[in-house]
Parts: sequence; C-alpha cells; structure tokens
Amino acid sequence: MIRVGRVGPEAVELLAELHGRCFQPGWDRTAMAALLAVAGTFALVAEWTSEIARESTTPERVPAGLVLFRVAADEAEILTLGVIPEARRAGVGRALLEAALENARARGAAALFLEVAADNAVAIALYQQAGFGTVGGRKGYYSRAGGTVDALVLARKA
Ligand SMILES: CC(C)(COP(=O)(O)OP(=O)(O)OC[C@H]1O[C@@H](n2cnc3c(N)ncnc32)[C@H](O)[C@@H]1OP(=O)(O)O)[C@@H](O)C(=O)NCCC(=O)NCCS
Repeated sequence: MIRVGRVGPEAVELLAELHGRCFQPGWDRTAMAALLAVAGTFALVAEWTSEIARESTTPERVPAGLVLFRVAADEAEILTLGVIPEARRAGVGRALLEAALENARARGAAALFLEVAADNAVAIALYQQAGFGTVGGRKGYYSRAGGTVDALVLARKA
C-alpha cells in the first residue's frame, strides 16, 4: 500500500511538485536541484494507493510524499518531510520517517535531527510517536504573516 524508494536528481520536478502540495510556498525545482547537489543529501518518495484505487482491479500507486535528509559524519538531518493532503493520516509520514532513519543509519549516522515549527502540533505528534525528543530551540526561526514562530530542534538515535 505504501512503498518508499530513493530518487535522484532526475526527480527534481516530481520533488518540487510534491513539496508545493505539502507546503505554501513550496521549494521549486531549482531549489531542489541545489539541495540535492550537496554531498550527502538524499531524497525518498513514498508511493501510496488510495482506498478508492484499492477497489479497482488495477490499483494504482501515486507519489504521495517526500523526505529530504542530509548525512554528515555521524549525524543526519531531515531537511523537509511532507505528505500531500489527500494521503494524510494513512501512515505515509511515518513510513517516510522510518525509511529516512534506516537510510541514515546505513550511511553511518548515529543520530537524526530536525527542526519543526513550535505550532505544528501534527508534525510534533508524528515525531514524538517516532521517538524524537526536544534537544533545543531557535527563537523566531519561521516567518509567518503575523510575525514569527519559534522552531523546536528534535532528535533521536538513528
Ligand atoms: C506532518 C505530516 C508529514 C504527517 O504525515 P501523515 O502521513 O499524515 O502522518 P501519519 O499518517 O504517518 O501519522 C503518524 C502519526 O502522526 C500523528 N499525526 C498525524 N496526523 C495527525 C493529526 N492530524 N492529528 C494528530 N496527530 C497526527 C499521529 O501520532 C499519527 O499516528 P496515528 O495515526 O497512529 O495516531 C503531514 O501532516 C504533512 O505533510 N503536513 C504538512 C507539512 C509539514 O508540516 N511537514 C512537517 C514539517 S517539520
């Protein structure tokens, strides 16, 4: 039902499209290409079959989410993680997070870090459920229409 696989620079268009459906504004293909060009940066895409498609005789998997992460020495960092609105609450985010952890571990990371907006309760719930704990914070890290929002720095053992 959910399949997560690694993609390379050939997939910048798909990554930018998925990012734009998960975040406003999303990162465009130039930004995606620049991120992927940095050594140690990896992208994974989740393909998912909706309940409606599952009833069909030829159920089709659609790209439903992405995660970008970077491994440097024995630490890894999630750069972005998102799931398209239609596929949320079906385990896609958890599958992407688990796959990123597994990949980071295989590349020698001992710990995985990420930043999340302090008001993003849904993402914080996902990360807490996956064993992440708060290790720091950054004041006024995200700009919003009405001001700024702090970031929480979360981490867990990879
Ligand atoms: C955060 C996000 C990636 C979660 O993806 P998802 O595929 O819906 O998450 P999952 O279905 O795998 O849920 C895993 C766990 O996360 C938590 N969770 C997910 N959605 C939730 C919601 N709407 N309310 C409360 N908890 C939620 C739950 O603990 C859930 O486990 P459960 O279903 O067993 O209760 C998705 O909502 C998203 O893309 N949001 C916009 C982009 C974003 O904020 N990304 C994170 C930036 S750091």
